[in-house]
Amino acid sequence: MAFNPEKFIEEAVREIKEKVGDKKAITAVSGGVDSMVAAGLAARAIPNQLTTLFVDTGFMRKGETEAVLDAAKKEGVPLEVIDAKEKFLSKLEGVSEPEEKRKLIGELFIRVFEEHAKGSGAEVLIQGTIAPDWIESGGMGRDTIKSHHNVGGLPKDMGLELCEPLRELYKHEVRMVGKELGLPKHVFERQPFPGPALAIRVVGEITREKVEIAREACAIVEEEIDLASEKGEMERPWQYFAAVLPAKTVGVAGDERIYKHTVVVRAVGSLDGMTANFSEIPHEVLGRISTRITNEVRGAGRVLYDITNKPPSTIEME
Ligand code: XMP
Repeated sequence: MAFNPEKFIEEAVREIKEKVGDKKAITAVSGGVDSMVAAGLAARAIPNQLTTLFVDTGFMRKGETEAVLDAAKKEGVPLEVIDAKEKFLSKLEGVSEPEEKRKLIGELFIRVFEEHAKGSGAEVLIQGTIAPDWIESGGMGRDTIKSHHNVGGLPKDMGLELCEPLRELYKHEVRMVGKELGLPKHVFERQPFPGPALAIRVVGEITREKVEIAREACAIVEEEIDLASEKGEMERPWQYFAAVLPAKTVGVAGDERIYKHTVVVRAVGSLDGMTANFSEIPHEVLGRISTRITNEVRGAGRVLYDITNKPPSTIEME
């Protein structure tokens, strides 16, 4: 049977009310679709028992903090901002292994929530986990593809009860729920963005310089592809971004040898993120992206384009 977002909202609101009872709850938005939809459902179900947080981890996209604050203001959602940039960046600096990154981030998020809950008395955490997050995180006889920060990355000694109203949904269904909830189009149609954010778009060892390169390069890829799609030069892919590879390569500037970071551009078509095909971006668009990244992003010296499907690769590089 086709998915019915109206019916789903009714059931999810009932489930949240039952689970939370007369306790207090917190939820956190990241700017992504899943967390916004989960927060939207929670706001319908338990408006007077809910605190909505935005944790600035320092791994956000360019302008993300301002954009989330602006959207929340327009929607009349009271948002509490927690500046955890230093906490996250100092813990992740020097970490190379993708699973370790996800677990550290998952744990840091929970510690930030627990600290907040101590003050507010919240006992329940409402989060926007969706089906691919727990399927890929393994368990129940499945291999772990990636420990999504909000599933496999959760600490065992977590002091908050979990409520996950979107657990059985896939991304396209989440978008339908977002639309039905009346969220703005730019929110429910936004391309997916992983919870661990730019930390997993720096492949290998995290440094502050590489996080900045990933942030600036991602912004350029988004701008150029959005523009090209609006102009009809190409179809807008399902997801598109840049990542920094763990390899510096040689280049020239004037007569001098330079040695700079390598950026890889990724764009894919997909329905639910479980499988994906690389997008065919016109060479002119790729050329503009490459020129802008090497001219505008300090420390970036070479740009590559990823032409692998999922499987065998995954969408993100970590
Ligand atoms: P992969 O890289 O596994 O990604 O093919 C599938 C979709 O999930 C997003 N993704 C994540 N989302 N936490 C999230 O909330 C994560 O740890 C995570 N890892 C990947 C990815 O951006 C893509 O849309």
